[in-house]
Amino acid sequence: MTDETTKPNLTLETLTAQALGRIDKETRSLVPPLYPSTTYERDPDGGYSSGRGYTRPHNPTYDEPEELLATLEGGSDCLLFASGMAAANAVFQSLLPGDHVVASRVMYWALRTWLVDFALSWGLDVEFVDTTDLGALTAAMRPGKTKLVWLDTPANPTWDIADIAAAAEIAHAAHARLAVDSTAASPVLTRPLELGADLVVHSASKYLNGHSDVLAGAVVCANTDAYWQRIRAWRRDAGAVLGPFEAWLLLRGMRTLFVRVQRCCENALTIARHFDGHPQILKVLYPGLPNHPGHAIATRQMTGGFGGMLSIRLKGGEAAAVATAAKVAVFKRATSLGGVESLIEHRASIEGASTPVPLDLLRLSIGLETPRDLISDLDQALEYAATISHDKAAEATPNSVTGEAKIHPDEDATGKIRDLLEDRIRPILIARGGDLLFQRFTDGIVTLQIVGSPGASVPIKRNIHNMISHYIPDVVGIQLVTTTKDTDHTSRNDLSDPVAGMQQLLDEQINPAVRGHDGYIRLIDVKDNIAYIQFEGRCQGCAMSEVTLRQGVEVMAKEWDPRIVGIVDVTVHGDGTDPYFKTRKE
Ligand SMILES: Cc1ncc(COP(=O)(O)O)c(C=O)c1O
Repeated sequence: MTDETTKPNLTLETLTAQALGRIDKETRSLVPPLYPSTTYERDPDGGYSSGRGYTRPHNPTYDEPEELLATLEGGSDCLLFASGMAAANAVFQSLLPGDHVVASRVMYWALRTWLVDFALSWGLDVEFVDTTDLGALTAAMRPGKTKLVWLDTPANPTWDIADIAAAAEIAHAAHARLAVDSTAASPVLTRPLELGADLVVHSASKYLNGHSDVLAGAVVCANTDAYWQRIRAWRRDAGAVLGPFEAWLLLRGMRTLFVRVQRCCENALTIARHFDGHPQILKVLYPGLPNHPGHAIATRQMTGGFGGMLSIRLKGGEAAAVATAAKVAVFKRATSLGGVESLIEHRASIEGASTPVPLDLLRLSIGLETPRDLISDLDQALEYAATISHDKAAEATPNSVTGEAKIHPDEDATGKIRDLLEDRIRPILIARGGDLLFQRFTDGIVTLQIVGSPGASVPIKRNIHNMISHYIPDVVGIQLVTTTKDTDHTSRNDLSDPVAGMQQLLDEQINPAVRGHDGYIRLIDVKDNIAYIQFEGRCQGCAMSEVTLRQGVEVMAKEWDPRIVGIVDVTVHGDGTDPYFKTRKE
């Protein structure tokens, strides 16, 4: 369908404006056609000489936008998805249970919410770190275990900047891949693959489309390796594919990408400078301002501007923020970003109860209007917010779209922890052959009691912590205890005798929990730093005993006594008469 006349070496701006500049061979149409057909004719011999059989893997309307985006990012291949969330999900779902992932602590909120949930049920070991701190990122890497580092930069809504080139070096040194959610930058400002990233992810609903009328996502890869093939297979088989009309609209939107992003950057910088130091404003968060903590890195890794996104924090707190948003007339009060029109959003109330976003923060997505109109609109709204009484402003507290009640420090965090445990955590633990019961919440630490197999809960302790602290930011840690002693804080007796040490661990921590399943783990011996154990009672024939052993007892034993290198199970499992957990097959 394309015209193959030779082209000079064109710039990305030109290729984008012309949507790759191809002419449809049959009709001479300048605009690539839209293919709504879901199915394609087979050859008489049963083959598919067109290379297409069905729309889910092969809709031709994807071809131009995917190729254009791969070109813009300097990548080998691109896949469009039904949304930015679907694109990001495909990257995580193509990992395997047990893989370790290091992700930016500040990232798109809905993605983080999904990730804590998914990690818990899928068994991904996700560690959130401050990825602007390269020391923290390096410390989090576990060579051989860490498979993916996920950055979101500039990160919503503080516009934190992570150093992509440095993060790529750190990830690669541990043989992990680096994926960058580059939605806020767009390829106009940052090309993560050129800085060493392996994957770039976009919510194409934002700058790429740019007109607030398409939901779409994309992943671009540096190499079409086996991991990329899994991502491709995931899109095809899980079916989170873009509709052809959306793909067509996306390409139309992308043709103006460069001028839109450049104008958004100019406008945002003008607005950020105007409001920096404004008497009602505590802080303007914009990477283009020298006072932003990420300014130096942004200057290096963003070309041609610092993006169209900024946030302002108001001295008058939440009430002033809400009143300001209520009073604007040119800015539209709406979520999302990257469109032609400017948006204002009280971010904390859309993220809901557990948001870590300061309540005094307003997020601004700067569009293509003249900065003068936007500045005078915000100026008058700030002036209004400063004059109204505090009480009146407080009345304007918005409702969260998530429908969750806002958690204030005096509200019942304990009740919320119990609810999370019941609804989201315990069903997973029970399916894994164990359980955790709530004991207490004091000084930011949630104490949970292990019941049944420690292998059900101990290996996923970090994910349980992630989920609880995601929803209840007051939670700084969790500890797992047995009926008698705290797992995390039990003091070890003299460790010079490894047999006595292992016996203490079994007596004080493991067997009190295993007793919940009417089982018992007997220590037979410790020889050459290997502990020999035997399952008794209902653990003897239990289908989960291997999980208990490898993910619970062995992990705990090695932590307890670092000399222990492994555990050997000498149980004759076939003799177990009343197994606690039987597989369905049996
Ligand atoms: C940085 C970022 N990543 C991903 C997404 C998810 O994209 P979508 O809404 O297209 O699913 C968003 C949406 O706001 C986003 O801002």
